Amino acid sequence: MQEGIMLDLAVIGGTGVYALGALADVETVEPQTSYGTPSGPIRIGTLAGKRVAFLARHGEGHSLPPHKINYRANLAALRAVGARRVLALNTVGGIGAACGPRVLACPDQLIDYTWGRIATLCEEPGSEVLHVDFGDPYTPALRRQVVAAAAQAGVALVDGGCYGATQGPRLETRAEIARMRRDGCDLVGMTGMPEAGLARELGLDYACLCIVANWAAGAGPDVEEVITLQDVLDNVAVAMAGVPRILHALLAD
Ligand code: HPA
Repeated sequence: MQEGIMLDLAVIGGTGVYALGALADVETVEPQTSYGTPSGPIRIGTLAGKRVAFLARHGEGHSLPPHKINYRANLAALRAVGARRVLALNTVGGIGAACGPRVLACPDQLIDYTWGRIATLCEEPGSEVLHVDFGDPYTPALRRQVVAAAAQAGVALVDGGCYGATQGPRLETRAEIARMRRDGCDLVGMTGMPEAGLARELGLDYACLCIVANWAAGAGPDVEEVITLQDVLDNVAVAMAGVPRILHALLAD
């Protein structure tokens, strides 16, 4: 394992993103952590001349639902292999008018609606009690770099917005999405928390790049539209086309 060797970036892939195709000279590591086993192997390789790690959040065969993911093990494992900054790719539903299917967005706020997940490193008896600042849940400097990288790569990206993290694995009711809209959410996904909070507790720089797969329930022009997994995967595949260009520009910095 590459313990101690600094990586330039770790990327966590969400639904529909199970590998980074452009990663070269890939080495696979399967670190154990004091929090347990990560979702799958970590692939470490070279992208745009830099050392990059990739981890599929749901496992490479998408075997883990959002509430069963060991977010602590995932982040601790990435830290153990040398990651200090993490770009989380999150497949989401769109609520805000600018956040329709196939849009990429880099949120700057979040609201946590999840429950029953281990959301802190302070879980075990005797562990240090942490009260990390979380006013800006995403590392502002990294977020700015992602936004600048998209601009430089000529990839359209919504700069800012509020991510609402829901429990899943079911999608939301129209009333839930209407409430989230009133709360100020622009995007809805199931995996944004506790990941962002744990990254902060671990001292990792962390930003989120959302791939909008569908209008959230009742948010689009056809309010009764039924959301299918196939629509989600098709839209992610299209929107993902811009992501390698953003990564290249980000790493070239
Ligand atoms: N809601 C929650 N999570 C999601 C959605 C959604 O509509 N689409 C993709 N992930």
